[in-house]
Amino acid sequence: MDGGRRRLSLEDFRPESLAGVLGQEAAVARLRRILSGVRNGQVIPPHLLLRGPPGVGKTAAARAFGREALGDQYDASFSELKAFDARGHDELTEIIMRSRGPPPNGAPFRILFFDEVESLSPPALHDLRPGMEGEGGYSVFILACNDSSGLGKALLSRCTVLDFHPVEAADLRRIVEAALARTSYRLPPAAIEAIVEQSAGVPREAIKLLLEELGALPPPA
Ligand SMILES: Nc1ncnc2c1ncn2[C@@H]1O[C@H](COP(=O)(O)OP(=O)(O)OP(=O)(O)O)[C@@H](O)[C@H]1O
Ligand SMILES: [Mg+2]
Repeated sequence: MDGGRRRLSLEDFRPESLAGVLGQEAAVARLRRILSGVRNGQVIPPHLLLRGPPGVGKTAAARAFGREALGDQYDASFSELKAFDARGHDELTEIIMRSRGPPPNGAPFRILFFDEVESLSPPALHDLRPGMEGEGGYSVFILACNDSSGLGKALLSRCTVLDFHPVEAADLRRIVEAALARTSYRLPPAAIEAIVEQSAGVPREAIKLLLEELGALPPPA
């Protein structure tokens, strides 16, 4: 990666696979178990709810899971829907209805990833339900939220819930070091420790602090 001429951004450090989602062992282990069922051709994954505080890897894990589950069908069969409070009932219903047919290119299923699902209004949450009902459907819903208390039991009971947490300092250090290794920059250990300490368990904070730190350095040789 070119660390010098182009401005680095958060996107540059998004993990490409589940192996890069660190410090979320329980959730990642369950995602892997689900993936092995998919690879054996046994099952379509269950609907998932990824729950936890901001910046600890839910979106990263959803995309990595999608990539591993769908392989080269990822671009065609993984849809990410966000800030959909702006979407009206009709649009949401249309998305759900369209999701009932077979996915393109012979993919075994499609994934609809609804990020920040708690920002949906109660009627919109209700609109999601028909898409999640019934066996043998073609669509796997992955929902992500910080707080599931407003989602309602009906929705929760349709999902396998995976909890994400703030990560330990050792994992934050690995995240910062892995991100740094994707650039041509070097930082002294004390600078890395300062980032780990200040980011208080939140990988997104650590990456943001790293970007600040690198932005203040002259371009690497
Ligand atoms: N557990 C993690 N392991 C490795 N990198 C991580 C992890 N968590 C977050 N990151 C880094 O921080 C960035 C932001 O994280 P992400 O968008 O996945 O957080 P989130 O949990 O979805 O937050 P929000 O609740 O605000 O949507 C990721 O692209 C990645 O670079
Ligand atoms: Mg997110």
